[in-house]
Amino acid sequence: MVNHSFQEVLRSRRSFRQFLPTPVEKKVLHEVLEDAQYTPSNCNTQPWDVHIVSGAKKEELSKAILQAIEKPSPDFTFDFDHYYGRYAERQKEQGKTHYEAVGIAREDHEGRQKEILRNFTFFDAPHVAFLFMPSFGDNVRVASDIGMYAQSFLLSLAARGIGSIPQTSVAMYADTIRQVLGVSDDMKLLFVVSFGYPDKEAKVNSIRMGRDPIDSSVTFHE
Ligand SMILES: Cc1cc2nc3c(=O)[nH]c(=O)nc-3n(C[C@H](O)[C@H](O)[C@H](O)COP(=O)(O)O)c2cc1C
Repeated sequence: MVNHSFQEVLRSRRSFRQFLPTPVEKKVLHEVLEDAQYTPSNCNTQPWDVHIVSGAKKEELSKAILQAIEKPSPDFTFDFDHYYGRYAERQKEQGKTHYEAVGIAREDHEGRQKEILRNFTFFDAPHVAFLFMPSFGDNVRVASDIGMYAQSFLLSLAARGIGSIPQTSVAMYADTIRQVLGVSDDMKLLFVVSFGYPDKEAKVNSIRMGRDPIDSSVTFHE
């Protein structure tokens, strides 16, 4: 029998891109982090190294990233041009849906640039979780562990009415972020999660991204 409350949380979670300043209560945040700790990982290595940044430190970090905006320093590559076929189509659909929701025209390059820059003020979220990881081999296994951790974290937040958004864009400034947070060079930054109570009135939060039917991604063998 399906646990309906689980299904509801899973299917209602979505990315929010405008938050209220209201902080998440410390006790609630600890519960969420305890939940996320139950994430499975390769050989139970539990390789997540999570830094939660709020308040003045978050402002300092945002400023440092914006200052370094022309000098990205990612630990891992990210390039839209690597997407092809249906993947590239989905990526374009996602961009189109986003800009249409906020009323930014295709040819409005300045408007688009401004919208992209909102990533670096964390969409005004009161908290940001930085997901660091140790480096093992080609890092694929450890990155999958971090991805799993992130989904546990997002769902646990969603179950408590707290909104979130995972952000690879911010991780493009890994060196700057390590410097501000005093994190050692051997910890690599995969992505971050901004979170807090969503501003339900914001147009950008009306976005609902669809999903393709399962036969586009699942093959049954008997
Ligand atoms: C690892 C990861 C990184 C992401 N990075 C960004 C980002 O930097 N900026 C952004 O606006 N959205 C980012 N997203 C959000 C995706 O665009 C979003 O998850 C996708 O469009 C599906 O929408 P949904 O989360 O509302 O279901 C990211 C999502 C994931 C899982």
